[in-house]
Amino acid sequence: MRKRLCNTAGKTAKCTINACLSEVLANRLAVPLSYLKQNETMKKVLITGANKSIGFETAKQLLDLGYYVYLGSRDLKKGEEAARQLQSANVQAIQIDISNSQSIAEARKNIGELDVLINNAGISGGFPQSAITTGVAVMREVFDTNYFGTIQVTQAFIDLLKKSPEPRIVNVTSGLASLTLHSDPAWKFYQVKSAAYGPSKTALNAYTVVLAYEFKDTAFKVNVIDPGYTATDFNDHRGPRNVADAAKDIVKFATLGSDGPSGIFYSVDNNPETGVSPW
Ligand SMILES: NC(=O)c1ccc[n+]([C@@H]2O[C@H](COP(=O)([O-])OP(=O)(O)OC[C@H]3O[C@@H](n4cnc5c(N)ncnc54)[C@H](OP(=O)(O)O)[C@@H]3O)[C@@H](O)[C@H]2O)c1
Repeated sequence: MRKRLCNTAGKTAKCTINACLSEVLANRLAVPLSYLKQNETMKKVLITGANKSIGFETAKQLLDLGYYVYLGSRDLKKGEEAARQLQSANVQAIQIDISNSQSIAEARKNIGELDVLINNAGISGGFPQSAITTGVAVMREVFDTNYFGTIQVTQAFIDLLKKSPEPRIVNVTSGLASLTLHSDPAWKFYQVKSAAYGPSKTALNAYTVVLAYEFKDTAFKVNVIDPGYTATDFNDHRGPRNVADAAKDIVKFATLGSDGPSGIFYSVDNNPETGVSPW
């Protein structure tokens, strides 16, 4: 890196161009230089649907691990309130509605670096969802968010992720996405069939397999993670799992080392022993 002379705390010293820029920026923004330096090296993560529930808890855990968090929320006010609750200088609320391409493009403009993308935002479309009576309008709405929305966000941020030395993509799926288990009458969730939600996550799994394949010879790790049946607004708080445990599984795959897996479907509900779920 090129060296030049700069004046730090009244002392003239040799330093890098980046360090000089940081110093100038710190003076202009009136923030401590130590904060900017720390921020330069922190890994950065975008979590969609992070204003509450599993996404919010994931933000909390990643902040604790020293990540800089872009807290995605389709309602900016809710996102800002959630960010305030986290009481950290390393979190920033970002307005992003994943079913709206304009909103995704605006969010992209507000983020300059990214190491980890957690596609967490999702909707159920309401239950029950009979194969006969569920309207195509409901199916389209669910797919617009869970499938097409997630893909649009991924495609919008892929250029930034490619610049990271250790890019990670975590697509939040559901145990109900497994076609193998849906065909097994002995499975504990065999009767929990849904014509829109489950298929939208099955499609997301299929997309993720293709994505992981395309990055198989790179530093990317791309996986689908089921947080498990968790008590949130999503299911009127009926799930037996808590958000802390659900987020832990997501965080595990967001922070994978270079020897970690790529292209797997992880679900402790579907496989309590190893977590690796059948597709
Ligand atoms: N809870 C479970 O038992 C369970 C089980 C398996 C998988 N999952 C998956 O886990 C993820 C999180 O679920 P959760 O239980 O935390 O659900 P939740 O309590 O309903 O929270 C969902 C989050 O997604 C956001 N969201 C919905 N549509 C969006 C859109 N178009 N653009 C941006 N954000 C949007 C919501 O924003 P608003 O606050 O504005 O609505 C909210 O922040 C989902 O993908 C879900 O399918 C959950």
